[in-house]
Amino acid sequence: MKRHSFNSSIGFVLAAAGSAVGLGNIWRFPYLAAKDGGGLFLVIYLILALTFGFTLLTTEVAIGRKTKQSPLTAYSTLKKGWGGLGIIACIVPMMILPYYCVIGGWVMKYAVSFIAGDWTQTATDGYFTSFITADTEPIVYGVIFLALTCIIIYQGVNKGIEAFSKVLMPILLILVVGIAVFSLTLGHTDGGETRTGLQGLRVLLIPRLSGMGFSDILVVLMDAMGQLFYSLSIAMGIMVAYGSYVKDDDNLMKSINQIEIFDTGVAVLAGVMIIPAVYVFMGEEGMSSSGPGLMFISIPKVFQAMGPIGHFIGIMFFLMVLFAALTSSMSILEAIVSSFMDHYKISRRRATVIEFFIALFFAVLVCLGYNKLYFEVKLPNGVTAQILDIMDYVSNNILMPVVAISTCILIGWVLTPDTVIDEVTRNGAKFGRKKLYIVMIRFVAPVMLFILFLQSFGIFSFL
Ligand code: PHE
Repeated sequence: MKRHSFNSSIGFVLAAAGSAVGLGNIWRFPYLAAKDGGGLFLVIYLILALTFGFTLLTTEVAIGRKTKQSPLTAYSTLKKGWGGLGIIACIVPMMILPYYCVIGGWVMKYAVSFIAGDWTQTATDGYFTSFITADTEPIVYGVIFLALTCIIIYQGVNKGIEAFSKVLMPILLILVVGIAVFSLTLGHTDGGETRTGLQGLRVLLIPRLSGMGFSDILVVLMDAMGQLFYSLSIAMGIMVAYGSYVKDDDNLMKSINQIEIFDTGVAVLAGVMIIPAVYVFMGEEGMSSSGPGLMFISIPKVFQAMGPIGHFIGIMFFLMVLFAALTSSMSILEAIVSSFMDHYKISRRRATVIEFFIALFFAVLVCLGYNKLYFEVKLPNGVTAQILDIMDYVSNNILMPVVAISTCILIGWVLTPDTVIDEVTRNGAKFGRKKLYIVMIRFVAPVMLFILFLQSFGIFSFL
């Protein structure tokens, strides 16, 4: 079977950016920035993106292009005996896909409510909880989202991933910029106090250092690193799979820089979109919820407070989030499908259908976790969890750091950093930041990842 490749480097950049830009950019980045000292978080995040993020992203894409293999088979192709790493790198997306589709289904439900005109309901107390604990609706929406993802991946690298990313990503960018600009023009008076969008922007941009001790700065550093890691879709096989479709004569360095700029740009714009809006209508306390609480409870209240225009902005917002989630779930599924194809030598269609049924089973389980199978457990990092949170914790906090640390050891020590450097420069392209790369992959990245890993077991309780 001939391996397909992306038709153009912009096709690759948009597909990879589509993977990177997801729910993390929209519901986690703005919250962390508001919580972690505004501009201070931004500066630390940018420095990490240019060093740590750049190192891991380059490594994974280069491994993919060099081996022309999926995550499951790439590591053993690179070095005999390292197949175990490939297996974990393939289990991670298999674990993430089902719950990512369930959340994608929630987004779809909100988009449908806004488009159908019954959007004001979404702002009522208890709406979100009663929706996700319902018997059938969350399953139906989750399955539709999963099916949509499968239909796109079924079409293949060019007609599926590349074609959809080329349409969805520019639309997404226009929507984010539009809503961000609108957000800055907002103003609202309550209790005699007027708050404006521009004041809200200061919460995001101005570094707040006062009262911060060493351990607070460490918290910011760890938050920024965890966020970056998740945001760039690293350590779950995705960038290896996408890298395997990049043509040998493409300039990897240039594409990687563009992917990082896209991902970070959208994260900052999401901040400009969300923080001023929440600040204007809810004050600084409004930013205290992250994740589902921010997106599905606070934001609909903000749209309602805007009055009739909130309906229109809400439609734009949830469509944008839907596109962001869809291009991410496409990439998760592709990491799995390409692995099945390469390892079991089966067709794309068969691989997609098999994974559809596996993900379907677990997605239903995740939905039942909010009603028939409801329970509460306390995770080592302090979160009270249901099935969705457990899958998220095991994949993000345990398996992903294991994959990333092992990759650093494989490239930095077992092989040599030249494995990646040679791949990047094979067509005469320049490898800027080469020294930095070597120091990062051998020393800094594995140590930082290890600290992040220990932190998720609650070992550094002061953090
Ligand atoms: N990188 C995506 C984000 O920032 C999340 C994601 C997770 C994408 C898992 C693919 C797989 O939201």
